[in-house]
Amino acid sequence: MKYNDIRKTFLEYFESHGHKIVPSASLIPNDPTLLFTVAGMVPWKGILQGTEPAFAPRVADVQKCIRAGGKHNDLDEVGFDGRHHTFFEMLGNWSFGDYFKAGAIEMSWDLLTNVLKLDPARLRVTTHVSDDESTEIWRKVAGKDAIRLGDKDNWWSAGDTGPCGPCTEIFYDFGDDIENEDDRWVEIWNDVFMQFDRDANGNLTPLPKQNVDTGAGLERWAALLQGKVDNYDTDLFSALIGATEDIVGVKKTPENIASFKVIADHLRAVGFAIADGVIPSNTDRGYVIRRILRRAMRHGQLLGHRGALLSRLYPALVTEMGVAYPELGREEKRVVEIIQNEENAFADMLQNGIKLLDNEIPKIQNNILPGEIAFKLFDTYGFPLDLTQMILREKNIDVDVDAFNRAMAEQKERSRANTKGTRTLWESQTQLPGTDDATKYAPDENMASHVLAILRDGEFVQAANAGDAVEVALDKTNFYGTQGGQVGDSGEMTSGTMTVMTVTEAARVDNIVIHKGTLVTDMRVGDIVKTIINKSVREQTARAHTATHLLQAALRHVLNEDVEQRGSKVSPDSVRFDFSFGRAMTADEKQAVEDLVNKWIDADMPVTHEEMSMTDAKSRGAMALFGEKYGDTVKVITAGDVSCELCGGTHVYHTGEIIHARVNKEKSISSGVRRITMSVGSLAE
Ligand code: ALA
Repeated sequence: MKYNDIRKTFLEYFESHGHKIVPSASLIPNDPTLLFTVAGMVPWKGILQGTEPAFAPRVADVQKCIRAGGKHNDLDEVGFDGRHHTFFEMLGNWSFGDYFKAGAIEMSWDLLTNVLKLDPARLRVTTHVSDDESTEIWRKVAGKDAIRLGDKDNWWSAGDTGPCGPCTEIFYDFGDDIENEDDRWVEIWNDVFMQFDRDANGNLTPLPKQNVDTGAGLERWAALLQGKVDNYDTDLFSALIGATEDIVGVKKTPENIASFKVIADHLRAVGFAIADGVIPSNTDRGYVIRRILRRAMRHGQLLGHRGALLSRLYPALVTEMGVAYPELGREEKRVVEIIQNEENAFADMLQNGIKLLDNEIPKIQNNILPGEIAFKLFDTYGFPLDLTQMILREKNIDVDVDAFNRAMAEQKERSRANTKGTRTLWESQTQLPGTDDATKYAPDENMASHVLAILRDGEFVQAANAGDAVEVALDKTNFYGTQGGQVGDSGEMTSGTMTVMTVTEAARVDNIVIHKGTLVTDMRVGDIVKTIINKSVREQTARAHTATHLLQAALRHVLNEDVEQRGSKVSPDSVRFDFSFGRAMTADEKQAVEDLVNKWIDADMPVTHEEMSMTDAKSRGAMALFGEKYGDTVKVITAGDVSCELCGGTHVYHTGEIIHARVNKEKSISSGVRRITMSVGSLAE
């Protein structure tokens, strides 16, 4: 059974069992605790946690995942066995408070043994030591005695905090002729029973609903259904490895196969991540992707290849996976360009780094390169440690790895100290209910809000004094917290006729709105306040946001329909908009965009704000951010007949309120991505 057929069989099975089938979410998670989507449950974390409503009781999908550079990290394993991948596809089915252990286990067993016709004798199951219920179900459903294991094997969570629970895993026996135990017994499905929420101190609180989260590695299923022991021998990987052989001009052998596997794996991780909007860089996920790309290049070198590699291989990835993931083909031009730029830049660094190394080699004592130099090569020239070691090995020189690790740890510590804001402190407050901010769209609402938490100097306090700089969470608020690129409201909190606090910005951490500012009077947790937003700032932000939609429409008109949003920042009377486009705009094009936006402003078109089902929004042709998962009910903002977009931001009601728009700068921010800035309202005038 080929990959395309396995995806289809899986989804059809769950559809016929009442599941709603949804497309894969982006690899870039909407979750600051994760670098990448590491499992099928990542987009559903809020639902599992009970902080977001479920849009269906049963859901199934095939999710793109990357496990590299974070808690879930398989990067170092890739190439050396037949099982590990940085990028993989996870088949998953979910119950959001619907079926639980019995339903999940019965369906897993039915699909594997009755639909896919796997030999039950080859399947073994494990359960958590605490989970008698699942153990009993396995006995009844399959006549299997589960192997009982502890937290390390049978407890699952995506991150250190959040939804988690015991799991039951199904293993397939590839046969007793396979000596290596890990190759013989392969986990093919994990059913997690999401029962608890874990806070930053490790405390477990039962979740309001009992949920099921399952995950099965498609590549492993392909191997066993195609009678292969090694995932890299399946149809998809054979094709990618064949394409690599053609480009490097070397055939795979048992000696060099690890490099071919690494290249095939890394091609998928790099290609999919960039297609989803990751840009190689020196931080966070951009850095992980850069490293993976360089590792692939090094393995190309090991095969004797020089120059561009992944950029030339990308079309083969589109051929193999473009049907299941149309974004690969749609983004091809941009992705290839970005990879080419990286490959060119690294080729130069490779030269410069080797020069540095050549200078250092004569100074070396005892055939050991100081760890600090290896770290400099890593830090400045982007040499992974193993690349430095490979080059030096020919000269019988070792690297002081301990000193390298120390230098690395020091740098990590420095960067952690820099990025530690108050966000993680708020995230640790898992007992706080979310803020009800429904009135942000009708901010004149005169209502009483309760103070839920006060953060001062990095500590949560019960009371704070006039003059203190604080961050405050309320149960309800009229403030719009920074979200979706729109800068949050400013304003004040009052009590009677007195100002209690001036608020410089409202921000959002998950579902809590945080009010940042300075106290004018003392404040205690439990106090009642009114939230008053600064209306002129709100008006300026609203007109900038509607203008952003007009700008996007105008760019698509003037440049082409393929222009896609890559990011935006909407501030009072000013707009920054990043979009996909391969070259600089000409002066005429900029003028044409500005003229078109102003024409639409002058036409004073009505702007409607409507709530509707996702299906209705789609049939209207509303534009959505690619790769974003939306709930079933969405807000749609329509400006005349020129723009219709899904958007949770605040907007004007007539385009004339924008007054005027002026395009300022247009520049490149990375390859294939341009940034345009625009002023509106009084700023533009
Ligand atoms: N979330 C579970 C896993 O990734 C199913 O294994």
